[in-house]
Amino acid sequence: MSEWLACVLCRRQFDAAETRYTCDCGGLLNVERDRVRLERRVFDERRSSRRAIDQSGVWRFREAVLSIDESRIVTHPEGATRLYERDGILFKHEGENPTGSFKDRGMTVAMTQAVRLGARAVACASTGNTSSSLAAYAAQAALRAIVFVPAGRIAAGKLAQTLAYGALCLQVRGDFDAAMRLVLEASQRLEMYLVNSINPFRIEGQKTIVWELLQDLEWNPPDWIVVPAGNLGNTSAFGKALIEARDAGWISRMPRLAAIQASGANPFYRSFRQNFEQRHRLTPETVATAIRIGDPVSYDKAVASIRATNGVVEEVTDQELMQAKRDIDRMGIGCEPASATTLAGVRKLRASGVIHLRERIACVLTGHVLKDPDAILKNVAPEQIVEIDPDLSEVERAIRSSEAAR
Ligand code: F0G
Repeated sequence: MSEWLACVLCRRQFDAAETRYTCDCGGLLNVERDRVRLERRVFDERRSSRRAIDQSGVWRFREAVLSIDESRIVTHPEGATRLYERDGILFKHEGENPTGSFKDRGMTVAMTQAVRLGARAVACASTGNTSSSLAAYAAQAALRAIVFVPAGRIAAGKLAQTLAYGALCLQVRGDFDAAMRLVLEASQRLEMYLVNSINPFRIEGQKTIVWELLQDLEWNPPDWIVVPAGNLGNTSAFGKALIEARDAGWISRMPRLAAIQASGANPFYRSFRQNFEQRHRLTPETVATAIRIGDPVSYDKAVASIRATNGVVEEVTDQELMQAKRDIDRMGIGCEPASATTLAGVRKLRASGVIHLRERIACVLTGHVLKDPDAILKNVAPEQIVEIDPDLSEVERAIRSSEAAR
């Protein structure tokens, strides 16, 4: 048995080939394996290989992701995203994944597991990125895709994308948390394999965001890794990735995690402020629809991540995150609103002295700028978009008035 599932609360173990998302005690499950004895040189060599499995920023780390015959892997391939540096801050752009968000990293693993388990249909609740990713990978694997989204609350790019790949889209009258509860129930009663991040195989894939970032930096860890926090899958995965990297000897120093929430959807931040003595659940509201979540599923794992990395949780207002989004867009990088909580969070944590000016920071941008076109179009200055007749003088006039407004 080289891989198994273990409950994070009672430590009970289960076979990795069992279709199961939580322990009987209600605890979340982690994938565990015998210690991986690979040197990071192996990953570096694979990076220059031309094989799809090595080109994938997920499967390049396969021995520490999922033990499976290579021919059975469902991959696009994903990952291998770029790392930008602007004004001294690093940005790992996970929006450059095949479906435009980091979700592909977890989905390739969960979908591979779904096929291995013989699933016919896969399901998730989603604010739109998981559903897009699920739909694409399910199409590739020829599985039925069923997604549960909060009706009227997902960004246009994501809804269109999910439909394009052919998923059945159930628009649940309620918020994400209601959709999540419903899909949990449906996956227990009906024939559908659940691939939300409560599925521990998703987390295994998402660990590679951190590993690839470390590899990008030639295994010299930054001081901080900053990540948006919604359902807390990434926060959970990042802590697990860092612990495993340290235990395997790939890094000798732990970066600190900073998980950033929108202030209208901040249950994790509230718990952090109370030293995690209490779990909070609330009705969420934020322009960053991706993280409009009031009852994050991966809470317990995320608490462990923050503790293990001496991490922090911060909140930012919609105004702060939209300002940061505008700045990231204007750097020529671009991202969706939720991703910009990272830069907004860095600004706040620097102002309060938690992050020092000379510390090295890596922000993870989680989603592509085109995911949420409305968030852009609603905030455009009128001088920037001008309808004109096909007449040169109108061109001149438009340029002049846009210059005057700069
Ligand atoms: N950023 C983006 C762009 C997301 O889509 C999500 C989550 C997050 C950040 C938060 O990550 O849940 O791991 O804490 N989106 C999920 C979805 C909920 O359904 O697409 P998390």
